[in-house]
Amino acid sequence: MSQIPEQVIDQVRFASDIVSVVSGYLTLRQKGRNFFGLCPFHKEKTPSFSVNQDLQIFHCFGCGAGGNVFTFIMKIEGLTFIESVKLLAKQAGITLPEDVENYDQYREKEALYFANKLAAQLYQESIRTESAAEARQYLNSRGITDDEFETFGIGYAPNSWDALIRAATAKSLNIEVLHRAGLVIKKDGGSFYDRFRGRITFAIVNLTGQVVGFGARRILNDNSPKYINSPETDIYQKRYILYGLYQSRDTIRSNDQVIIVEGYTDLTSLFRSHIRNVVATSGTALTEDHARLLRRYTSNAILLYDADSAGAAAALRGADILLENGMEVKICIMPPGLDPDEFARTKGDEEVKRLLASAVPLMEFKLNKFESIQHGSTSQKASGTRDILASIAKVNDPIRRSFLVRDLAERLKIDESSLWNEIGHIERQYRFRVPGEEKQADEKDTFFETSKGTAELGLLQVAMRHPNLIGRIVKNLNIDNIEHSEIRLLFQNFLKGVDPLTFKPQDYLTAIQDAKIAAKLSDLMMQENPHPKPWEFARDCLIRLHLALVDTEIKRVKEKMKPAAGVEPDLKSLMDELVYYLGERKKIQSGEYIVE
Ligand code: CTP
Ligand code: MN
Repeated sequence: MSQIPEQVIDQVRFASDIVSVVSGYLTLRQKGRNFFGLCPFHKEKTPSFSVNQDLQIFHCFGCGAGGNVFTFIMKIEGLTFIESVKLLAKQAGITLPEDVENYDQYREKEALYFANKLAAQLYQESIRTESAAEARQYLNSRGITDDEFETFGIGYAPNSWDALIRAATAKSLNIEVLHRAGLVIKKDGGSFYDRFRGRITFAIVNLTGQVVGFGARRILNDNSPKYINSPETDIYQKRYILYGLYQSRDTIRSNDQVIIVEGYTDLTSLFRSHIRNVVATSGTALTEDHARLLRRYTSNAILLYDADSAGAAAALRGADILLENGMEVKICIMPPGLDPDEFARTKGDEEVKRLLASAVPLMEFKLNKFESIQHGSTSQKASGTRDILASIAKVNDPIRRSFLVRDLAERLKIDESSLWNEIGHIERQYRFRVPGEEKQADEKDTFFETSKGTAELGLLQVAMRHPNLIGRIVKNLNIDNIEHSEIRLLFQNFLKGVDPLTFKPQDYLTAIQDAKIAAKLSDLMMQENPHPKPWEFARDCLIRLHLALVDTEIKRVKEKMKPAAGVEPDLKSLMDELVYYLGERKKIQSGEYIVE
């Protein structure tokens, strides 16, 4: 099922106590056997999210989310199972086998992290020194107070050619590493000098809180570039990183919305205005990877960009990318001449809230914009219409799409069918939607809605709650006929022998990889008495499972009875077969085959 060996997965789950893992994301309070906290998966005021340390499971009585330590990480970080194992392994200090293969690469990355950490420390210390008085004064004048430096990773790169080089040498860090981390620049002669000098630094951190690079702003309005940035490295890929996401992701998740701005100071000022679900693109264009990253936390975005044409154009480009990646997008354009930073500082919290509330859905924004070119030439109108249709084509919800098309048709006073035609055109041209992974998940999802799916899950549930029934269940079960691979695997394990007296459900619960199964089981484990008559329930599941098998046979025979091209079906023998299976069906239904 995975490329990580089972023993290693076991090692990771034993090392990852669910209470401490969950505590990294929310505050838990102990009440009896369980720990409680505010659910990170839905909005609530009283804690209904509970964690059971004995069973190593979590369950929310409010929204029904639940599972084990791996499925918690999958859900909260938006990762796959394997990625969750990797993350927890890293936190537990366990080296995964495949990391060993890439040991050099791993060491190189660690070295780059170390270099950035060292630089961050130096800059952080320096901002408090006398030599940074001017930097502090400048920051203060822009509303950033001294006690906010840490929150936003703000520091000061000393005005010297080798402050970082000296600090690194003192820690025996090779200058070549500083160079590969982009923190120093190599001169033609082969010697090095610090990249950032006499500037305010904004530390850029990844999602595990490690510094991966810096953006460094000039203090004086001299002729030097306003910002000097770290180049891309093995640990800093701009298309993956959003400034502030590490600090804001919890709020993004709980508000179910992200506000996207361009500048560092836009973000810091909004934070101060108590808007904490913000990320900054740091002047780079939004990428598909950014969209996917954000999608882990929310599917609602507001783009808060400057009013100038560059700002509006960037907002629209970003919006399309977010839209294509399944996000709902609103656009909020600043009043002319103000950026979010100045607006927040000069107008106050209430005005900021009002501004954000005035954000309009992307499509409306486009339609409004279109209205202003309504009076333009025919070709302008046509290209404007196509642009809007291109966006509509990216809307996944078919009902919303229909409404948008109707709305557009009314506004343009043309008929809907020609718009649909054009959408079809656009789709054929641009759409390569082959969401393989999604489809697989869908298939799994519906499996648990079928009779067979609920029966397989039901048997697993009874086995977990009533291990004394496992023997009787497997006696009645041909394990190879279990369709769901993970449930089959678990029953194969049960087959190896289970002692009902020493059976520990947690040994199996934490090992479950399918998030849906994990959730259903954790829900069940938290209930007092879910199956008052467990054997009756198991019996019913077994019968349904057996029925599903005969039904496939019956379907197959019926299929054969249909005359196909050129082949005359042997109706007599098929009929015999059918009668036999129908008889079996009756017997199964009456419970005749169940060994009590
Ligand atoms: N940026 C950059 N290099 C530049 C200009 C801008 O990397 N020469 C990035 C920075 O990340 C900056 C963002 O683009 O935060 C937005 O640009 P801008 O609005 O010009 O920067 P602010 O940080 O808002 O600067 P100011 O202090 O002028 O408000
Ligand atoms: Mn600005």
